[in-house]
Amino acid sequence: MAKEKIQFFCTNCGHEERKWQGKCPNCGEWNSFSEQKVSKTSKGTEVKSVTSLPLSEIQIEESYRYTTNIKEVDQVLGGGLMKGSSVLIGGEPGIGKSTLLLQIADSISKNHKVIYVSGEESANQIKIRATRLNIKGEGISILCNSHFETIIESIKTQKPELVIIDSIQTLQSDEAGNIPGSVNQLKYCCSHLIQAVKEIEASIFFIAHVTKEGVIAGPKVVEHMVDTVLYFDHSASQIRILRSVKNRFGSIDEVGLFSMEERGLIELKDPSGVFLTKRESGLPPGIAIGATLEGTRVILIEIQILTVPAKGVSSRIISDNVDPNRVSRVAAILEKHGGLKFSDRDIYVNIAGGIKVKETGIDLPLALALYSSRTDLPLKDGIISSGELSLAGEIRNVPHIERRVKTAEDMGFKLFISPGNVKKTSLEIREVDTIKKAISQIL
Ligand code: TYD
Ligand code: MG
Repeated sequence: MAKEKIQFFCTNCGHEERKWQGKCPNCGEWNSFSEQKVSKTSKGTEVKSVTSLPLSEIQIEESYRYTTNIKEVDQVLGGGLMKGSSVLIGGEPGIGKSTLLLQIADSISKNHKVIYVSGEESANQIKIRATRLNIKGEGISILCNSHFETIIESIKTQKPELVIIDSIQTLQSDEAGNIPGSVNQLKYCCSHLIQAVKEIEASIFFIAHVTKEGVIAGPKVVEHMVDTVLYFDHSASQIRILRSVKNRFGSIDEVGLFSMEERGLIELKDPSGVFLTKRESGLPPGIAIGATLEGTRVILIEIQILTVPAKGVSSRIISDNVDPNRVSRVAAILEKHGGLKFSDRDIYVNIAGGIKVKETGIDLPLALALYSSRTDLPLKDGIISSGELSLAGEIRNVPHIERRVKTAEDMGFKLFISPGNVKKTSLEIREVDTIKKAISQIL
């Protein structure tokens, strides 16, 4: 418990005195002294109460957020990078983290001073990457070092506006044990770096490796320390997805989509159709197309289902991109309301391109793909759907149905099976309110 003593402060200028004064010796104001309790903690730090401000009087500072000039990155960050914020970005080795951060550094360095700290690669290797990406890098300083104390000193002297650490697992402080990448080292180095950049109002990006299980190697506590946690993931061979799993300054629904090309990551400006497969003939059984939302964006996806007689005593659901519980629930609804048996089947679920979908609008296309696979009847060509299923077999409306329909229309679909009322379009709309009626439309 802290020890208390009384001190006097001028309410005009904040000047401190041990005794009450009629006139402030600092600013000359009369009768401005007021008494305040000051306590000391066991470490000797002085603690005093501070005045809180009414929320209504707090002014939002202009330009607190600035653009990275890469739209997909800005979107995932919640509208740009917050000054003084810390961002952790995780991904498998070779996914393109260093490439992405070098591109971000290049883009930000047009208006802000950037330091890129690399503990993994030599200046030469970074230069080769930069040349490949056509980055001249006038505003980017490269610091190839992993010694934490040296890095902190360099940051304090050079006062950059953005610091990039590639990667946190290489940092090593003299104060936190001998093994780089250990829990102690990670905690110590990250928390002190976050503090150091806050003091100079800079932002910081930490690159982190992920383990085989797909989580950031190291303690969860690093994720708790930073403001934003992003994962860089791959989908169809070249496609890279940047998603946010934590963001103090924005929604975590948005994803950024890129394609890894010969000369770096290119933003996918119109990603709606990138996950669809082009086929000369009609759809094979077990495939249905759905219109889903990723953040604020409509993305059309191809759901693929394979149902085979169960190999074990009980049936299994093998599904990486859709929650197996959702698959199980939709299959149960089809058993009850579609007259099909799934309990003796193993169900394999895939989404073309490997994109993960959590949105409720996937229920209906998932049900149609399950139905098609189980009956071995292919869906008619050009059909797309979106809708949430209730346990009673009803189809519920989903948000932004009009935008979904519009995107499907732009991508050349012919028939949209929808639960809600949609304005007239050139695309034919079938409004259905139960799964039974939906099935009758597709074959
Ligand atoms: P890198 O950014 O080094 O990945 P990470 O830091 O996540 O380990 O990217 C590695 C891969 O990206 C490598 O296999 C080569 C490929 N790549 C391209 O395809 N195009 C490019 O322009 C660059 C720089 C890399
Ligand atoms: Mg790297």
